Amino acid sequence: MSRALKYDIPGEDWRRTSLDLADLGAQGLFKSGADAPKRFVLEVGFGRGEFLLELAQREPETAFLGVEVSYKRVLKMARKVAVAGLENVRLLEGRGEVILGELIADSCLDEVWVNFSDPWPKERHAPRRVIQSGFAAHVARALNPGGVFHVATDDPTYAQQIHTVLSSEPALVNEFPNQPWRTDVPGRIRTGYEEDWLREGRSLFFFDYRCTEGPQQGGRP
Ligand SMILES: C[S@@+](CC[C@H](N)C(=O)[O-])C[C@H]1O[C@@H](n2cnc3c(N)ncnc32)[C@H](O)[C@@H]1O
Repeated sequence: MSRALKYDIPGEDWRRTSLDLADLGAQGLFKSGADAPKRFVLEVGFGRGEFLLELAQREPETAFLGVEVSYKRVLKMARKVAVAGLENVRLLEGRGEVILGELIADSCLDEVWVNFSDPWPKERHAPRRVIQSGFAAHVARALNPGGVFHVATDDPTYAQQIHTVLSSEPALVNEFPNQPWRTDVPGRIRTGYEEDWLREGRSLFFFDYRCTEGPQQGGRP
């Protein structure tokens, strides 16, 4: 039997809505003035949230926006963020591709992370994968020049698709051009699923692409 969901937030509730984001912009969700964060980082599909919590603890002056499609996971993460007393995390429930495509302004992020998004292994489900050419174009538009898009997967077919998509986006450049992906990133914070996949002995695929330019006149498609 599954445990009852706890709805109380033992501290500050840092969940925000898409409307808040539309009204205030990503910067407007965080402190302003002298305390305004210097860097902005987005994670799409944070799952159980271990990775986002660790990053946010390591970099208290960076703003972290976590997007998750699961209501329960956002709620559970809101409880964890409150318990940890973190003030540099904001949580949004929604589809990453919609939030990024419609509610994140041009050139306002320094990093985007998509860790182990669902691989949808059946070919007919492939259109449901998060990493598609439209998504990559939105990441490139939303990143500052010099900003980095980090992607990880455990699925070889999805890895091939990610390689094709990212290497076809003109504003993104592979940080490791002699290899389509890396199979190990020393010093990397591991996500919950990553720990599970490593225990199972699966191969992992890591991508880092840097944004080389600001948004095109008239916007990218
Ligand atoms: C396989 S889990 C990986 C979780 C976490 N990143 C990790 O590595 O431990 C994929 C997560 O992405 C979320 N997700 C799936 N589609 C999404 C979407 N379109 N936008 C945001 N989150 C999504 C799921 O609810 C799930 O929590």
